[in-house]
Amino acid sequence: MATTMQRAEAAEHAMSEELDRVVVKSVLFTSGERDPRMPIPRPPDQGKLYQMGHDSRLPKMPDKPTLFDFFRYRFGPSAHMLQSARLAQKNGVSEKIVLACLLHDIAIAGFIRSDHGYWSAQLLEPYVDEEVSWAIRYHQTLRFFADDSVGYKYPEMYVKLFGADYQPEPHIQAAYRYARDHKWYMSSRLITVNDLYSFDPNAKVELEEFTDVVGRNFKQPNEGLGFDPSPSAHMWRTINWPTRYL
Ligand SMILES: [Fe+2]
Ligand SMILES: [Fe+2]
Repeated sequence: MATTMQRAEAAEHAMSEELDRVVVKSVLFTSGERDPRMPIPRPPDQGKLYQMGHDSRLPKMPDKPTLFDFFRYRFGPSAHMLQSARLAQKNGVSEKIVLACLLHDIAIAGFIRSDHGYWSAQLLEPYVDEEVSWAIRYHQTLRFFADDSVGYKYPEMYVKLFGADYQPEPHIQAAYRYARDHKWYMSSRLITVNDLYSFDPNAKVELEEFTDVVGRNFKQPNEGLGFDPSPSAHMWRTINWPTRYL
């Protein structure tokens, strides 16, 4: 397996290569930096073909990518999720919850940050136990609400990030009330309990530690993640090929 350094070098090499295809960004990639109602700026195509697959600026993914391949080739730093999963293991939770902790923020790591609990859950839903994706979907909401019964407090970090007067919006309040009464509430709550940043800043956790947990609890499709017929396969393809024209 390539080291982080080798992968970074390969990515850098790919970045420096001139693009032989015209790349047009999706509206979502630039919305806010530019007015989304305006036409998307595009480079002069000079007769070049448009991007319809692999973007040569990105490290190339295997033809049949696995979940770990997405961690290796498309996700940003995932130490936070790895540390959460290890902490969960240390706290003696079930394997399902360890998996949920390992994957709870994948939307932030590689897809879309806004509403990351929902996006993460949707990406994973066809491949994991329903309880796992449910727990991941609602961890985003539960993070805003304390639960003294398990010693979970409103995060100090959120006060810093969002201000002391931030109040979760009505749809989040409603999602909280729904989740609070659900039979899987505690599964989702356990993600928030183990959702710590730098619980041990020196702990180095490798993805490979979770090979067996993932092997037993994640239904890796034979065709490769994104090339299977699941309802979220297109989302994985988009992570693989984010600049595909259509
Ligand atoms: Fe999260
Ligand atoms: Fe998290």
